[in-house]
Amino acid sequence: MPIVDRIGAFHDEMTAWRRDIHAHPELGFEEHRTSDLVATRLEAFGLEVYRGIGRTGVVGALRVGNSTRSVGLRADMDALPIQETTWLAYRSRHDGKMHACGHDGHTSMLLGAARYLAETRNFEGQVYFIFQPAEEGLGGARAMIEDGLFEQFPCDAIFGIHNRPKLPVGKFAVRSGPMMAGGGFFDIDIEGMGAHGARPQAAVDPVIVASHMVGAIQSVVSRNVPPTETAVVSVTRLHAGDAYNVIPQSARLGGTVRAFSREVMELVERALERIATGVAASYGARARIDFRPVFNPTINAPPEAEFAASVCAELVGTENVERNPPLIMGSEDFSFMLDRVPGCYINLGNGDAEGGCEVHNPGYDFNDEALPLGASFFARVVETRLARTAD
Ligand code: NI
Repeated sequence: MPIVDRIGAFHDEMTAWRRDIHAHPELGFEEHRTSDLVATRLEAFGLEVYRGIGRTGVVGALRVGNSTRSVGLRADMDALPIQETTWLAYRSRHDGKMHACGHDGHTSMLLGAARYLAETRNFEGQVYFIFQPAEEGLGGARAMIEDGLFEQFPCDAIFGIHNRPKLPVGKFAVRSGPMMAGGGFFDIDIEGMGAHGARPQAAVDPVIVASHMVGAIQSVVSRNVPPTETAVVSVTRLHAGDAYNVIPQSARLGGTVRAFSREVMELVERALERIATGVAASYGARARIDFRPVFNPTINAPPEAEFAASVCAELVGTENVERNPPLIMGSEDFSFMLDRVPGCYINLGNGDAEGGCEVHNPGYDFNDEALPLGASFFARVVETRLARTAD
């Protein structure tokens, strides 16, 4: 059974929704048209619709029977600030904005599952269809959670899909445990003492301090992070001084950290703090660090990952489900939902032919052939997890 037949029957309609969303991309927290479209469809399917959760977020609720079991299914709706370079008939009509990450496809697949489940109602329990805004680094998942998402719509487990270019259509990839890195940004402000460039004895030179700090920071991954773990610390900004004959008063450096566990992330944060204050003090300067976690690591709960893989295998066969694909250093804000509720984030093949270029590329396009596969996954998650029990 490659897809649910009844979902395949409205593949054309899903394609039309996807292309309509593609032609009208909206950036994070500006998804007014997209959330209108989603809410209108969900209402037409007969779901209860809740709007304004996480500003432009939408939740559709569908209940069958009195079971207290519940499942959450999540899609993201936002586009990116990229100028589209394709000549597709449905290319972006908004200058400088495009769906270059396939969130148009994710939204359409979840709408497809909602339509099918509302028509067939072949399950018992509560399903929440979560349409999230602002995934691209703007905190949409956190905004929904802070608005009480899981208090108002409690989920026993939660599932999401991201398309993966280069993975053929008809294949899924499922990883148990850590899957994508968590990420943070940091700034270090160094305060020295400015002086004439020819009178260094009167200065506390922040350029010297910053230079040593950049070197010392390289020891965090090589000497502090256990060799069996993975982490990246990159200093990507270094600013000091404006003149040839002035030793500046202050310097500022900044960068990014990536890791696959909260423990390693916290270890790196503590090491950066120690190095910043310690190196500065050793030269008679002062330093202050601002460390900001932006994404959690995306960690799939092993039981839910096994379950998701079994649903994929039922659809496309075990040979088409890639288990243990490589770790991804990129980040994903579904991680904040997975931090609250056990669940699994899976990858769906976007193909390597037409529309197969990497996400966040100006020539990217979601592959419409994958729509019924993703919708079928969501539908079978519900029908399997909330299977009717014989009374
Ligand atoms: Ni994305």
